[in-house]
Formats: sequence, structure tokens, C-alpha cells
Amino acid sequence: MFTGLLTVAGILAIIFLLSPWLALGSMLAFVLMLGLVGTVGRRTRSVFREYQKRLGALNAVLEETYSGQRVVLAFGQEQRVLTDFDQANAAVRATGVKAMTLALLVMPMMGILSNLNVAIICGLGGWLAIHGRVTIGTIAAFITYSRRFAEPLRQLGNLYNQVQAALAGAERIFDLLDTHPDRLDPADAVQLPRVRGEVRFEGVTFAYVPGTPVLNDVSIHARPGQRIALVGHTGAGKTTLVNLLSRFYDPMGARSASMASTSDRSIGTAYAANSG
Ligand SMILES: Nc1ncnc2c1ncn2[C@@H]1O[C@H](COP(=O)(O)OP(=O)(O)O)[C@@H](O)[C@H]1O
Ligand SMILES: [Mg+2]
Repeated sequence: MFTGLLTVAGILAIIFLLSPWLALGSMLAFVLMLGLVGTVGRRTRSVFREYQKRLGALNAVLEETYSGQRVVLAFGQEQRVLTDFDQANAAVRATGVKAMTLALLVMPMMGILSNLNVAIICGLGGWLAIHGRVTIGTIAAFITYSRRFAEPLRQLGNLYNQVQAALAGAERIFDLLDTHPDRLDPADAVQLPRVRGEVRFEGVTFAYVPGTPVLNDVSIHARPGQRIALVGHTGAGKTTLVNLLSRFYDPMGARSASMASTSDRSIGTAYAANSG
């Protein structure tokens, strides 16, 4: 990028010194080039963004189908799964072709504009030469410089496109990295040291769906090494209790839930601190 910018700046300085009028004429193609790179670059980014999204969807279909292979076979869903894949795949191909077309469009268009520049130099330079404002040598120098000029611009345009494609990918990565976990430790949460295995739930209330509590004011006390059976109808909340214990969910209300540490101090876990 640095080399490209330096070359462009150097050539600009020289051609303006040689002949300001001819240099201004060349600027027309230059401005068109910049506009083109800018417009196509912006468009490239949004198409690449779409492409990454669809690629993600395709990978999700693949992942689910492979890991759920037995289920697919057991329920005879092969055809449906194939159709799902074909749809996701076609979507990726369509945006992929579009993205690549846009990204690769810049190169030949830069070539056309570079030739346009030569035409401008010859036309305008010829007119100026007839009126004795520039020499044929200056025109020749301009043509050489305009050729030199196109190369770094082409490289910069290419670079810009690659950066746009990379940024579209980076956006998705940062979206994921910036995801906030649902269960955050309260500011006053205490570090839980090695536990002895003593567990206490005191008046724990929990609902998956607000308004329909699954556990209501449940208290249990498990001593270290004690073997406990949770008995109840299907849907009574046995798994839910274990889920809370492993902190897959936080209870909505509890007088206290705690795990005693090895030092025999009763340490509130994050959910005790959460419950107030
Ligand atoms: N992820 C969930 N979202 C909403 N409701 C749930 C969820 N998991 C379980 N439930 C409901 O919570 C209740 C208790 O479920 P569960 O703890 O799995 O019972 P058990 O293990 O005793 O059979 C049931 O009514 C069940 O429908
Ligand atoms: Mg269960």
C-alpha cells in the first residue's frame, strides 16, 4: 500500500510539473478510477457479508445433518435433508458468484480507464501541441507515466477489495465474540474454592417460562458423600434441579443456595449472590 501511494504521489507531482493542463485532463480518469474503486468496494463488502452469512447457514445444515445422521436415517428424512442442503448450497453459490464477479470487476475496469487516460492525453495533448503549449516529448512522457500510474492504482484497488472482503468476515467473528452471556456473575460474586460436596438449596424458585414456575420454594440439604435419589413424575422438575445445581440456569428467587467449601466456611455461589 505504501509503495503504491508513494508511486501515485510521485507521478502526480511530476506530471503537474510537466504540464498542468494535461495533468488535469489525466485527473478525469484518475477520479473515475477512485470513484469506481470506492463504489465497487462498498458493494463488495455488503455482498461478501451476505456470502459469509449464507456460508455459515450451509455449514450449519452440514453440521446438523452429520451429527444427526442416525436420526435422519431412523425417520427416513434423507430426501428432506438433501433438499435443505441443495437450497443452502445454491444460495451460497449465487452470492459467491456475485461477490467474486464484483471483486474481479475492478481489474478490467481499471484497465479500461487506464486506456481512456491514454486517449485523453493523446487528444488533449495533440490539441495543446498544435497550439504550441506542449511538446511531443511531453505527450510521450505522459503516456509512459499514465501506464506507470495505473499499476499501483490497480494494486491499491485490489487491496481495498480484499480488505472489504476480510472486514465482512471480521464483522461476523466480532459479532460472535461480543455476544454477552445470559448468566453473568454479579459484581459481588465470591470465588468458589474446592468444594467438599455439601450442597444446600434454601427456598429456590425457578421457571423456564416466566409465570409458570417449575420449582417453587424448594429446599434441600445434601451432606458430603450422601447418596440422594430424586423421585417424581415426569416433568416434576428433577432434571431442572440438577440443571440449577450445575448452573446451566440461575434460579429466579432463593433465600439461599450454597456450597460449603473445604475450609468449612459456607460460601454463597453466584446464585446465592444473585438472589439477594
Ligand atoms: N428448557 C425448557 N424450557 C421450558 N420448559 C422446560 C424446559 N425444560 C423443562 N421444562 C419444563 O419444566 C418441567 C420440569 O421438567 P424436568 O425438570 O425435565 O422434569 P423431570 O426431569 O423431573 O422429568 C416440565 O414441565 C418441563 O416441561
Ligand atoms: Mg428428567
